[in-house]
Amino acid sequence: MKEILQYIDQNIGGYIEELKEFLRIPSISTLSENQKDINRAAEFVASKLKSAGMNHVEVIKTEGHPLVYAEWLGAPGKPTVLIYGHYDVQPVDPIELWNTPPFEPTIIGDKIFARGATDDKGQMYMHVKSVEAFFKSTGSLPLNVKFLIEGEEEIGSSSLSSFLKQNADRLKCDAVLISDTSLFAKGVPTLTYGLRGLAYMELEVVGPNRDLHSGTFGGAVANPINILASMISKMIDKNGKILIPGFYQDVLKLSAEERKNFKLLKFSEKTYAKELGVKELSGEKGYSTLERTWVRPTLDCNGIIGGFTEKGAKTVLPSKATAKISMRLVPYQDPEKIARLFTKFVKKIAPKSVKINVTSLHGGSPFVAPITHPITKAAARAMEKSFGKKCVFMREGGSIPIVVEFEKILKATPVLMGLGLNSENLHSPNEHFDLNHFQLGIKSSAYFLSELAE
Ligand code: BES
Ligand code: MN
Ligand code: MN
Repeated sequence: MKEILQYIDQNIGGYIEELKEFLRIPSISTLSENQKDINRAAEFVASKLKSAGMNHVEVIKTEGHPLVYAEWLGAPGKPTVLIYGHYDVQPVDPIELWNTPPFEPTIIGDKIFARGATDDKGQMYMHVKSVEAFFKSTGSLPLNVKFLIEGEEEIGSSSLSSFLKQNADRLKCDAVLISDTSLFAKGVPTLTYGLRGLAYMELEVVGPNRDLHSGTFGGAVANPINILASMISKMIDKNGKILIPGFYQDVLKLSAEERKNFKLLKFSEKTYAKELGVKELSGEKGYSTLERTWVRPTLDCNGIIGGFTEKGAKTVLPSKATAKISMRLVPYQDPEKIARLFTKFVKKIAPKSVKINVTSLHGGSPFVAPITHPITKAAARAMEKSFGKKCVFMREGGSIPIVVEFEKILKATPVLMGLGLNSENLHSPNEHFDLNHFQLGIKSSAYFLSELAE
């Protein structure tokens, strides 16, 4: 390992330059006008995998955005690791809140600022470089490695999902290594063993057949915005319980042991609230903040559209209003079942004076795994060696829907070795990535390959 670690230290400057080049590509998956950049990002990843030393590097066309695949199977008898990540990024709006241009990566102190820096280009790139360090300093890898990098993670991974089902043989592996989550805190080696799932709904309330003068008609016809607001308020009670019948039916109860383990983690609700600029935290009664975000489901309105939203005043009764509502799910809730229960519930609480349209936009299953698997233990040793500290285990509030499919279809063990921080503004202006973590992550990845090979 010594020569590999040395190689990483000697070349880190060049790695950062390459990461900057990658971050300059605005590969926003949700915007069709960025299609060219999506393709460029896929080509970039493919070319770097090739120059790292991987074989059979391929940019695979799909119905959506291309996948990048590569393999090196030169260690027969040894385990196989599939490395997954995503090259697509979120939109940059509101652009005026960025202190530096989102696609002009800028280093300030130890941090690199750009859209995708931590989610997920910077994290994904760590593995490309760890593999390269092996090839360049020892000529080979200690085990078999496959890379599968997608461009649709931020929009639901639908092409990857079909590809997985059709190529399960080719993708066969023992472990799936993913760096697309966060450390518990700066400098603390962390493995994540649970993710929440998601059911994302759109709820449209339709009233009169056109916008109406709010004076002449006000009081006589239902206002879709008022109705929508009152419907939303019926979804959660004052204790933070979600009122959709059957919603909690499949929720895995928090065990006494897990509750105890969470309490052992050094976490201050006060600091957390302060950092977010809120006077007081809020959530489901009877649960701590970590429990609320890691093991309890939620329902949140993400956006609400309707009526007059320009400057000034216009007296109008809008003919319709829409809300985007997401529910974060926990094991073993099923996103399709939850979408059905949601639809049934809103239809029941809607008054006759309006029409309701409910659409399910996308969903993903929650994930949780025991932390006792030998592969997980190898990952913990790897992070401990890289950081020189004890590894902590945590769950996470965010979602990576494809993880469960890796587990089910490939029957492989997911390893969530995230090096980001939840304070690094993912999906938000001024996204950044700590370059110390970038370097530690390359080393953790290298240690993991070597630990698993043994
Ligand atoms: N990398 C994130 C998930 C994540 C966020 C993990 C924070 C750990 C900490 C991923 O790219 C993401 O944003 N996922 C979406 C999934 C959705 C679009 C289906 C999410 O959680 O909103
Ligand atoms: Mn991500
Ligand atoms: Mn993301």
